[in-house]
Amino acid sequence: MTNLTGKHIVLGITGGIAAYKAAELTRLLRNAGASVRVAMTHAATAFVSPLTFQALSANPVHTELLDTGEESAMGHISLARWADLVLIAPATADFIAKLRAGLGDDLLSTLCLATRAPIAVAPAMNQAMWDNPATQENVRCLRDRGMRILGPEEGGQACGEVGMGRLLEPQQICDELGSFFDNGVLAGLSVLISAGPTREAIDPVRYISNRSSGKMGYALAEAATQAGAKVSLVTGPTALNAPRVHDLSRVESAADMYRSIMDKVSSANIYIGAAAVADYCPAAPEKQKIKKNESEMVLTLKKTQDILSAVSASEKRPFTVGFAAETDQLEDHARQKLAAKSLDIVAANWVGREQGGFENDDNALFVCWNGGHAYLPLAPKKTIAEQLIRLIAERYHAQNPAKNPR
Ligand code: PMT
Repeated sequence: MTNLTGKHIVLGITGGIAAYKAAELTRLLRNAGASVRVAMTHAATAFVSPLTFQALSANPVHTELLDTGEESAMGHISLARWADLVLIAPATADFIAKLRAGLGDDLLSTLCLATRAPIAVAPAMNQAMWDNPATQENVRCLRDRGMRILGPEEGGQACGEVGMGRLLEPQQICDELGSFFDNGVLAGLSVLISAGPTREAIDPVRYISNRSSGKMGYALAEAATQAGAKVSLVTGPTALNAPRVHDLSRVESAADMYRSIMDKVSSANIYIGAAAVADYCPAAPEKQKIKKNESEMVLTLKKTQDILSAVSASEKRPFTVGFAAETDQLEDHARQKLAAKSLDIVAANWVGREQGGFENDDNALFVCWNGGHAYLPLAPKKTIAEQLIRLIAERYHAQNPAKNPR
């Protein structure tokens, strides 16, 4: 048994020289226990014959949107419904642009529009095409919409150039898909995560913010997804690529974040507040840009709403995990927050030091709950996130031994 056993995978093949690697990929997916149905663009059939894929997948190959015979048997809607996952490999720059634009002018693009299954895209193209800002923007957009982008990798290309753009090796793609269906410690649970900083407007051009990069919250979102959860991420402005999540909401101010979180909280089993939410915002932001006429200016601030406390006090309260960012008495402050906000777990980190906390790639946490605590020593945020997710899952399942997933 593998994670792919019994899974229905539609393998979409587009027209690039790497199309030949899709043959090996089909074989590996079937060996891993998946059922594979292949849909090819016309350009793809110029590189490899549909017969090859018919033999390897043991299923007819789909190429035509408007072929009545094929449509009545297994057309784009049936294929779209059949899929547990649609994998486009290789995906050309042209097809990626089409996906972004939402075009449906052939079988493969139409079934991508029609499916509710997750879509994974493995790009393969010339390195200059990959670097082109249009392609980069298209890929970013697909990622933001929740599609999983696999690769590409760097290396020699069929055109003789060297650079980014090679299709990932079929085995790597197959392994990545396996992790996609991982039945982890949070399988079946909905996890709501906040990440990044907030921006509080002073006037239309200036704002108050903080040093949060979003790295910790994004790593948690990725780790929770990896653990099988359906993750909703609400993020303040960051420069990071979107992690793999079910639902991503971008917000700016503490008030926006409050609204977005409170909108979603009743369907969450677990809430993790990793965002550095502003505690104060300008009481009356100016509508026009403030002129620098005065030698001094006084800015009146008012308190923002405490999202974590509101979540913890909400009617359908999820298992609630708060963070604490401290410059002194880390453990005392963490325990105070645990009690004051009636939290299930507090994850406390030092900030303002050379290592860990804001912006750094590494972090260390002191994690406490009623009746216990744990130290997670300095490590990459990805590792810390995986360890914290395991701790959260343990505590959640200890408190909810027989709770059905929402
Ligand atoms: O983003 P990175 O650069 O990776 O940095 C990670 C981090 C340091 C931002 C992260 O690990 C972290 O500590 N996040 C919480 C930062 C923070 O605001 O801590 P706090 O002690 O001020 O707040 C405590 C808790 O209350 C936090 O869960 C916070 O999300 C929440 N809060 C705060 C204010 C507010 N108005 N609403 C809230 O929900």
